[in-house]
Amino acid sequence: KYEKIWLLFGIGSLVVFLLVLGYGAFWQGTHPQSHGITIDPNNIESNEAFKPENLGLTQVEEDKYILNIAASAFYYDLGKDEDGNAVRHIRVPKGSTVLFQVASKDVVHGFNVAGTNVNMMVEPGYISSLETVMKNPGTYTIVCNEYCGIGHHMMYATLEVY
Ligand code: CUA
Repeated sequence: KYEKIWLLFGIGSLVVFLLVLGYGAFWQGTHPQSHGITIDPNNIESNEAFKPENLGLTQVEEDKYILNIAASAFYYDLGKDEDGNAVRHIRVPKGSTVLFQVASKDVVHGFNVAGTNVNMMVEPGYISSLETVMKNPGTYTIVCNEYCGIGHHMMYATLEVY
């Protein structure tokens, strides 16, 4: 009789443990890295970081940069260069600390700097942010890795560490 109770208790604990584990994985896998920073997806420009003039790369200290990106189907807006052309290529010196901040104007997008630890889900309503040191020189492709519609594969840009 006691054996049965202990067996049930054991199975019960195991189920609870698996639920907690599953919930934790689900939570981490489906929420942006920065919690609690909300933004109006219909008006991301209301946030200073996502005003058109603040999009793209900004140097804030000798070796520190902020990269603000507005994601929408099917485009990463990295601001404009001096000639008014859309920026598609970002360059930072080796060893730079880069704070990536990405917001979506419409649906869920991904933001993955292929070959680095920069990999975020960009949910409308939240600012996804991640700070990292770009240690290895090279040209990295920034890709959307959440299926967002017919032009999903066209969402990319490049990041060069020199
Ligand atoms: Cu944006 Cu896939």
